[in-house]
Amino acid sequence: MTQLTTHYLGLELKSPIVASPSPLTSELSTLLRLVEAGVGAVVLPSLFEEDVESESWSLHDRLEAGTGLTPEASNFLPDLDYGHLLADRHLRLVERASQRLGVPVIASLNGNSAGGWVHYAQQLVAAGADAIELNMYDVAIDPKQTAAEVEGGYLALVREVRAAVDVPVALKVGPHFTSFANFALELVAAGADGLVLFNRFYQPDLDIETRDVTPRLTLSTSVDLRLPLRWIALLHPLLPKTSLALTSGVHSGADVVKALLAGADVVMTTSALLREGPEYVSALTESLIAYLTEHEYESVAQLRGSAAHDAATDPRAYERAQYIKVLSSWPGGHGPH
Ligand SMILES: Cc1cc2nc3c(=O)[nH]c(=O)nc-3n(C[C@H](O)[C@H](O)[C@H](O)COP(=O)(O)O)c2cc1C
Repeated sequence: MTQLTTHYLGLELKSPIVASPSPLTSELSTLLRLVEAGVGAVVLPSLFEEDVESESWSLHDRLEAGTGLTPEASNFLPDLDYGHLLADRHLRLVERASQRLGVPVIASLNGNSAGGWVHYAQQLVAAGADAIELNMYDVAIDPKQTAAEVEGGYLALVREVRAAVDVPVALKVGPHFTSFANFALELVAAGADGLVLFNRFYQPDLDIETRDVTPRLTLSTSVDLRLPLRWIALLHPLLPKTSLALTSGVHSGADVVKALLAGADVVMTTSALLREGPEYVSALTESLIAYLTEHEYESVAQLRGSAAHDAATDPRAYERAQYIKVLSSWPGGHGPH
């Protein structure tokens, strides 16, 4: 019997396949279908810093509107119906999911600055979240801000969230850092229990007729797997005690196997499930089991990281050698003839 269990953020998961945040993890009905199809854990959609901030401002404004009034007039205080608040809807989803699903529920916070909104992490935990995934989705566009300042801001946020909760915290980040290996180690030193690699940045397009910027949500393909695959393989030997999750480009059983071979503890998927439906998790699982059986692995634990060794011995030489090999693979080869 093949063992699919894995450990992620100190939690035992019955499968390494995890549903990452998307509309499919925002409804109890689809969450139940994902669990039925065999996911090891789910990550709920993010609660955004901007949403929390705008709600607390409107709450503040509404309260301010009632100050200095006579007791009679205070009857006209705005009716504070917390049920309308987005954060409240999130908390209710966490609560229901953690009661009903029977697999770990990871709540996601999305923001890029330390501040008061961070206390929502505590509320997500109080509502039943087994862990927090902090998504730092940001594009650094201030020309006066240095790379060190940008990274320092992120690290301050990690420390703040880490101090606020007593459950594991994973960091979901993008790949656009000059020295990512160094930054990854800094994130762990600041308190991250796990890294989720990588965020996909949604690139806006231009309409050449209207000259408008058009937001375009393009789902990933297996080609998108290559970038996180490389970094999971490079970081796996450097961070043996840190949980690693691969996200972006997982579409087939082969993609799941590659992520595990590179050293991921869990493999997250969204686009494939949006295209094929929540039941696709069982096809991915069957394909993983078939690979393990055919190649005589007894468990996911045995498979995990077994292809990260080349990169571990001399990562820089490995990267250079791969680059040269790729260029030379074009018919006609590379260099003068
Ligand atoms: C419609 C949609 C909604 C998403 N919402 C969130 C979100 O709320 N928080 C988050 O961290 N990632 C979110 N993501 C990103 C996914 O969780 C995932 O990291 C990304 O799509 C890359 O994985 P994939 O290649 O399997 O799609 C969303 C993606 C899609 C397509």
